[in-house]
Amino acid sequence: MRVLVVGAGGREHALVWALAASPLLTKLWCAPGNPGTGRLAENVPIGVLDIAALVAFARANRVDLVVPGPEAPLVAGIADAMAAAGIACCGPTAAAARLEGSKAFTKEVCDAAGIPTARWEAFEDAEAARSFVRRRGAPIVVKADGLAAGKGVVVAQTVAEAEAAITDFLEARRLGEAGARLVIEEALEGEEVSLFALCDGAHAIGFGAAADHKRLGEGDTGPNTGGMGAISPPPGFGAAEQAAALAGLVRPALAELARRGTPFRGFLFAGLMLTADGPKLLEFNVRLGDPEAQCLLPRLQSDLLAALLATCDGELGAFDLRWRDVATLAVVMAAKGYPAAPVLHAPLGSLAAAEAVPDALVFHAGTAARDGRLVSAGGRVLTVCGSGPDFAAAHAAAYRAVAAIDWPEGYFRRDIGWRALAAEGARARR
Ligand code: AMP
Ligand code: GLY
Repeated sequence: MRVLVVGAGGREHALVWALAASPLLTKLWCAPGNPGTGRLAENVPIGVLDIAALVAFARANRVDLVVPGPEAPLVAGIADAMAAAGIACCGPTAAAARLEGSKAFTKEVCDAAGIPTARWEAFEDAEAARSFVRRRGAPIVVKADGLAAGKGVVVAQTVAEAEAAITDFLEARRLGEAGARLVIEEALEGEEVSLFALCDGAHAIGFGAAADHKRLGEGDTGPNTGGMGAISPPPGFGAAEQAAALAGLVRPALAELARRGTPFRGFLFAGLMLTADGPKLLEFNVRLGDPEAQCLLPRLQSDLLAALLATCDGELGAFDLRWRDVATLAVVMAAKGYPAAPVLHAPLGSLAAAEAVPDALVFHAGTAARDGRLVSAGGRVLTVCGSGPDFAAAHAAAYRAVAAIDWPEGYFRRDIGWRALAAEGARARR
């Protein structure tokens, strides 16, 4: 099998790492990739949104399977373009990718399919939105409908804060057209988990669960980021809970999309809030998470490539994935100044010592090679994943590798997995 992974982050390095281990693989490319993917695959200098060039490359090189990592090319129709060229692509069409591209669309699907989610209303008129917020009171959540790279959600603690978000998104258009429509919804309380499924249009099979750490600062403080670390599996959300959430929140969405004539194929990521009334859907994403993928894929025992081929062939109904019974904990190393203004071009020392730490994996994201040295080239630069029989062991392996990385311009949270570690400690003391 000749496979092309599309993307350049830590998630794509993890995908490349897992695919490189497949006995079915004959050739692996990554576009555009990073220095980490370049060691396992051949990097191709084509951007993720240059869909015409990606199709031309896949055709010319007789690619059998395309695996898009990020949402942007999916929302822009990479799966449709590959299908038109007769090339298998493990991702949703643009029509199905609206599950991530439009929050109002997701809410409509939830209502039509009976999926538990926060009560909501959509607005295009600021005055109507403000009067709704005044009627409902705070806390309340204001969301830009379109893709906003994590900047489109305000969990407002006061009515004034919600009104400011309405002005900002709808009137000032701070997020451009992504803010032309708003979803305003009830604030939910509970712990958040990320549930993953692999879907072939008709069937969904579980692809594990993880808990992200979205805030920049320790103790879950500071601004939201793309994710500063993740653990898998989330304590209290094991196989039984995952199976129930697949049945109650994921498969109904899949059935509704199929009913609408836009079946969903690829990775479906359900962001869930574990409320007192059970899990409720916060959002769907149409891809794996980053950094969730970096702690999910090291737990996968089955051949990823075989699973993705079964996905494209519509054969997941008879497919089974096996997982290693280990805990994983992934720490993101970001450039100082991330997310607002990351310091670029800062040199990193050799990663060899970190890569040699037992039970640790180092995935590249925003790195680049300059004059034979590695430098930072993005906000999130590395993800270091540790694994072990429990979270204490996974934490020790991950942070041992982090400590072996010589990068004064780097920033990372020292408390990834703190909830899981506390729960584990409490269990051990009982
Ligand atoms: P989303 O992009 O919709 O997942 O929202 C980003 C983050 O905002 C989520 O990870 C939650 O932390 C928070 N959030 C979104 N919707 C709600 C809600 N209805 N209630 C409370 N928090 C929310
Ligand atoms: N880490 C959250 C995401 O990938 O959307």
